[in-house]
Amino acid sequence: MTLFPDTVNAVLHESILGRAAKKGIVEINCVQIRDYTENKQNQVDDYPYGGGWGCVMMAQPLKSCLENIMSTAKGLRSRVIYLTPQGQPYTQETAKRLQRDYDHLVLVCGHYEGVDERFIEACVDEELSLGDFVLTGGEIAAMAVADSVCRLVPGVLADEQCYTGESHWDGLLEYPQDTRPEVWEGRSVPEVLLQGDHSRVETWRRRQQLARTRARRPDLFAKLALTDPADRKLLQEMEKEAGRMKLDREVTYRQAQEEDLPEILRIVDEARVSLRRHNVDQWQGEYPSEEIFRTDMARGECFVVCHGGEIAAFFVLSTAEEESYAGITDGKWTEGPAYCVLHRAAVAAAYRGSGMSAQMLRCVERQCRAYGLRCIRTDTHKKNKAMQVLLRETGYRYRGNLLIASEPGHDTARQAYEKLLKDRT
Ligand SMILES: C[S@@+](CC[C@H](N)C(=O)[O-])C[C@H]1O[C@@H](n2cnc3c(N)ncnc32)[C@H](O)[C@@H]1O
Repeated sequence: MTLFPDTVNAVLHESILGRAAKKGIVEINCVQIRDYTENKQNQVDDYPYGGGWGCVMMAQPLKSCLENIMSTAKGLRSRVIYLTPQGQPYTQETAKRLQRDYDHLVLVCGHYEGVDERFIEACVDEELSLGDFVLTGGEIAAMAVADSVCRLVPGVLADEQCYTGESHWDGLLEYPQDTRPEVWEGRSVPEVLLQGDHSRVETWRRRQQLARTRARRPDLFAKLALTDPADRKLLQEMEKEAGRMKLDREVTYRQAQEEDLPEILRIVDEARVSLRRHNVDQWQGEYPSEEIFRTDMARGECFVVCHGGEIAAFFVLSTAEEESYAGITDGKWTEGPAYCVLHRAAVAAAYRGSGMSAQMLRCVERQCRAYGLRCIRTDTHKKNKAMQVLLRETGYRYRGNLLIASEPGHDTARQAYEKLLKDRT
């Protein structure tokens, strides 16, 4: 049910769904709501009671349109769905349920400010949202629902495997895929895919699915109940490898460049996930943002720590006065020395447990000396035990507590640490 049946028809009768409709496997009808008005001007909307901006679609044309549709669907398991940003978020699970439980879906597309609430109360079985954003009309959402449900109808795709292995089918994202040529712009297809060993390919793909989901969608990963022993074994292997990274190449550091930014942000994301897992309310919002790192770089205060050629960690060491540090309580900073502040630092997940964190702090000290300074100050969340242990083990001293200004809306209480470097003889 839409005010734009031609647009929706054109899209839903293209390609795979168009062919399925021609074969009679699915039937898609786009019905013009305006055809069911009972006023001379074919008006479908009117001003909202109580005033306010925009117009609301009237209940009568919607109800008449729906009744006409339902008169053609006797004996079918029908479901009337209103697409709205106020509905339940639409997911692959919803698509599966709709395909499994119903033979007839009526998708109601609102427009303007939406539809008369009484129509929803009286006639709608379910409200679905395409996501937490607002579209001008329900058509795009209805097309997304129709497309994703119809492709699950047996016969629409060539094989069930076309959709059962895809992202979101069993809570995982799909593995990466490559096609010809074997080498493109210097990038090769992973070796394992070229050897014709199907069992190795399957294992590699499953591992990629697990690794991708964990890295990109920790929210989905946290919900997984992996019962298959083969999956559990893969996960164990992944954990072990992460911890097994040996620092067998030279560790160096240099000023970060623009092209290092994606890797820095990737490491930030990994750190975010790890902090969340340890229940530490640090880096759980926008901070530290790309913009902040750009400013750090422009000031020449952002550094990457490299193992061989690979970025393994980063840190930001600033010589600018940190205002929030003046408000230290329950203790005090050492009086006198000019200091630099270790603001943002993280080690890539692959390097956790390898000793890279201590190496990174050594680079911090070298940079502090390069600034001509002998005092490093930093802060960490009171629940960030790993960081506290690392700081203490590397000679930092707890100096008191403070409140930082950079993460409003989150727990801003921090422990303050300081290290005074010895003059070299
Ligand atoms: C501008 S929106 C109305 C938004 C409504 N005033 C509100 O704030 O909830 C117009 C129509 O677009 C559709 N629409 C907008 N965003 C949507 C979303 N995220 N998911 C599904 N439908 C949406 C709905 O059918 C809605 O009636």
